[in-house]
Amino acid sequence: MKLLFIAGNWKSNKTGTDATEWLRSFKSHITSSTTQIKNITLVLCVPFTLLSIVKRGIEEAKLPLALGAQDVSALPEGAYTGEINAKQLKEFVEWVIIGHSERRKNLGETDELLFKKIVLAKEAGLKVIFCVQNESVPIPAGVDVVAYEPPWAISAVSNWKAQTAHEAAVVCEAIKTKFPNIPVIYGGSASADNIASYIEQPSIDGVLSGGASLDPEKFAALITNAR
Ligand code: PGA
Repeated sequence: MKLLFIAGNWKSNKTGTDATEWLRSFKSHITSSTTQIKNITLVLCVPFTLLSIVKRGIEEAKLPLALGAQDVSALPEGAYTGEINAKQLKEFVEWVIIGHSERRKNLGETDELLFKKIVLAKEAGLKVIFCVQNESVPIPAGVDVVAYEPPWAISAVSNWKAQTAHEAAVVCEAIKTKFPNIPVIYGGSASADNIASYIEQPSIDGVLSGGASLDPEKFAALITNAR
């Protein structure tokens, strides 16, 4: 059976109250057969402010979700006002997203900066979901999952359009050829309706879901349909 990797990314959305309600609703929508599936790794990446509350909520409700952060500092522990370092994150999460196109674009994050983040994340024992926007973006050692996310296909951009599964598969295949041992997932308007078309492609091992993960019912349906 194919091993699948599905990550939800809430981006800069939700308060503590919203997160608690999301977890309650997700639990009611995820079917018991889904909670027992062994071939899917499910990761939920939430804002820093929600890590504590979501970690507790996942544990209390025994949800089949690993927790992830959406970024990590490129600096170690120390006098770096406002930064959240990898060692601090490790108290809460197993996973971290590094290199999302929104951070590359809005915050000017460069490959050089992102490579520093990966080194510190790995030193702290975090697993890295590294986002690339095409097959040419350099992928450094230490990455655990590669997320191919064409920026124009992200549901939050105007005139977005999900990339067809076949086109996405060609890019994922190119990445896989260079990194045969790393799962490659697709991100860009993935939904319960189109998930099957992506994961039936041999080169696509799952999805990174932004917009659909905000709605617990839609995210649960996406997972159920992936199954
Ligand atoms: P989306 O986000 O699912 O909302 O399109 C995907 C991503 O940001 O990679």
